[in-house]
Amino acid sequence: MASNSSSSSDDNAPVRVGILGCGHVGSALIELLGERARAIETASGVRLEAGAVAVRSISKDRGIELDESLLTTDAEAVVADPSIDVVVEVIGGIEPARSLVLAALKSGKPVVTANKELLASVGSELYAAAEANGVDLLFEAAAAGAIPIIRPLRESLLAEDVRSIIGIVNGTTNYILTRMAEDGATYADALGEAQRLGYAERDPTADVEGFDAGAKTAIMASIAFGANVVAGDVYREGISTITSKDIESAERFGYVIKLLAIASVFDAGTDEEEIGVRVYPAMVPVSHPLASVRDSFNAVFVEGAASGELMFYGRGAGGQPTASAVLGDLVDAASNLQRGAFRPVPSGPRPSIRAIDDLESAYFLNITVGDSPGVLSEVAGVFAENGISIRAMQQDDTPESEASVAFITHQGRESDIQATLSRLKEHDAVKSINSVIRVIES
Ligand code: NDP
Ligand code: HSE
Repeated sequence: MASNSSSSSDDNAPVRVGILGCGHVGSALIELLGERARAIETASGVRLEAGAVAVRSISKDRGIELDESLLTTDAEAVVADPSIDVVVEVIGGIEPARSLVLAALKSGKPVVTANKELLASVGSELYAAAEANGVDLLFEAAAAGAIPIIRPLRESLLAEDVRSIIGIVNGTTNYILTRMAEDGATYADALGEAQRLGYAERDPTADVEGFDAGAKTAIMASIAFGANVVAGDVYREGISTITSKDIESAERFGYVIKLLAIASVFDAGTDEEEIGVRVYPAMVPVSHPLASVRDSFNAVFVEGAASGELMFYGRGAGGQPTASAVLGDLVDAASNLQRGAFRPVPSGPRPSIRAIDDLESAYFLNITVGDSPGVLSEVAGVFAENGISIRAMQQDDTPESEASVAFITHQGRESDIQATLSRLKEHDAVKSINSVIRVIES
């Protein structure tokens, strides 16, 4: 392999890339690599070349120009091939991705991956293997698609005391919620379109139930807070229960519904330090910058003690945007390999996780009550008894004998909200609790 140089002379031997997976991301990566190889060599001195591509089915039409002699179904052989210098893992899932990544790292090959599920479950094992073998493990594409967020957290903000991260980090759900709100699309049609556009995971339950956003939250929190946060630490609710009626109600109160990912540190630097990580749909004021993040776009706000608030915005899903992030990592990994350098992942020990019951939020509630004198004051009394204060209320026109009432509360502790809901469910005047959605104000 050639030494690092900014020249593009003929003696600059290529860095051969083994690509595991050629689906939405892998095929876009192969195309982009073909288009950008010369410019990359000119800019960085790194000459990248696809050396092998592992897939499940050789005969599948991938819709790209691809030298078929590169294709194989033997991913292990690609990793073990001595002519392969760097490995890209874009298969997804835990196995065989975990074993393949570990094998590559152990044989001294840097790895670039887009696999958030893998990193959020066994990231610490992989980070340790990369460090022990002195090679890079890079994963910019594993959070928020094309948006550079991992590298800023790993490098630019390494010295910053990061206090919180809040964002929209799943393109599929943002696309679905945008189509439902703006075009009146049904949930099923919008999800189908997100799948067709290559935004969704192989099993879209990962997107719509918040697992994917949860994995990304765990990865970002681990790096930002120097702690080993795993997917199981993240409190998670998805968007599959959000209805068109919820979206209309949000609009009436001046909000839009977004699937939010939130990570925060409490009592930073003390013995009581805790990390709160959660993913849930929330009503966001239309004036909030996250409200204007539409379609498959993502946005992440990072707040540091010294830096204040920083915003990162861009395409969060899709083959090409993701391939852009993978290719950036690939250039970095290849360049570091040539220099014999690598950058360890700044993760850390297991943190104390603050339970959702101890976190606070404002809430939107829609309930149906019997329409008789005094009912509203009784219902308001239940909120008061549990320490929850009401900020706004609206009553809808409904059939006689029933009234549909929407409330927005002030900030309250989750356990108090849950106690309020339990009491409302038992209350004679309450016919049904139709919606319970968190609200953020700023
Ligand atoms: P796809 O399902 O489109 O592609 C997966 C690829 O992996 C396919 O080419 C498949 O082969 C191949 N594959 C599966 N199992 C094996 C195996 N055992 N050996 C060799 N090849 C295998 O997924 P995506 O491209 O959408 O996603 C890939 C990864 O990137 C995932 O981790 C995903 O979470 C992540 N990601 C995806 C984004 C997106 O917008 N799509 C954005 C950011 C990250 P075959 O084609 O023959 O079936
Ligand atoms: N399924 C993911 C999403 C892909 O929709 O955001 C990008 O990570």
